Amino acid sequence: MINIKEVLLSTRKVLNENAIIDSDLESDLLVAFALKITRAQLHANINSPISISEQKTIQNLVNRRIGHEPLAYILGVREFFGNLFRVNESVLIPRQETECLVESIINYLRHKSIESPKVLDVGCGSGVIGASILKYFPNIDLISIDISPNAAQIAYENILKITNNNNFHVLVGDLIESIKVQVDLIVANLPYIPTKRIPTLQKEIFLYEPKTALDGGTKGVEIISRLIEQSTKILKPDGAIFLEIDPDQKYILKNKIQHLFPKHKIKVLHDLSGQERVLSITIL
Ligand SMILES: C[S@@+](CC[C@H](N)C(=O)[O-])C[C@H]1O[C@@H](n2cnc3c(N)ncnc32)[C@H](O)[C@@H]1O
Repeated sequence: MINIKEVLLSTRKVLNENAIIDSDLESDLLVAFALKITRAQLHANINSPISISEQKTIQNLVNRRIGHEPLAYILGVREFFGNLFRVNESVLIPRQETECLVESIINYLRHKSIESPKVLDVGCGSGVIGASILKYFPNIDLISIDISPNAAQIAYENILKITNNNNFHVLVGDLIESIKVQVDLIVANLPYIPTKRIPTLQKEIFLYEPKTALDGGTKGVEIISRLIEQSTKILKPDGAIFLEIDPDQKYILKNKIQHLFPKHKIKVLHDLSGQERVLSITIL
């Protein structure tokens, strides 16, 4: 009978042959997931036998992975800012660069020290940004919004599970059209990839991640620009906006913001790989 060690070696080989870069880690995670055990248990039981039906389950997962399905969708989870979020094909897989947006929001809220700030997370996807800041500041009054009802449902479940806090709402809607109250902070990681570039993306992204989460229109800035325009109606005079952007969009967005928010200060912050990734519009 085949054992865990043998199945791990053969899984690694198949993933390697199919140019999956992190084949050692991914094999461990796929096999542990199929056997419903942790990675530590997997290695502690490396000589244990594997049944025929377990082998079939592993084969099925490996086939999905070499068909370019992202690991996070297969496992159904992705870690973000120290918490495990449920994900599926209705939501973008949270990216590490978005943690930089979350950190800058946390810094801002810490310095601003508003008693119960009203915060909008627009294009919330799996809810990662809202959940991460609500966990950090349980006093914020959070509204997370997404145009996709399926994404909004996942965001609701994730925010509730991760924060254990009822002080939030999740809405389905087009940007902030339906918001009639004045808010202290608008945060957003909206789609920012130019339409033409979408078919050139990695197959994992192009074939599996939702187009509504990627496609930012002809220049990539259409949705973000619309949000900035709508923000003028509901942002408090000393409120702030934090946006994740593509570095190439910096000037076009800065121009728009300077025109609409002449008294605000605009800053561009870098992500961990040194890319200009976050645009903040503040009055301190
Ligand atoms: C790039 S994903 C980011 C998801 C999440 N904020 C994150 O950082 O992982 C963009 C999200 O914006 C949503 N979206 C796209 N257009 C929108 C619109 N007009 N109004 C609200 N949400 C929108 C998509 O459905 C998607 O969930």
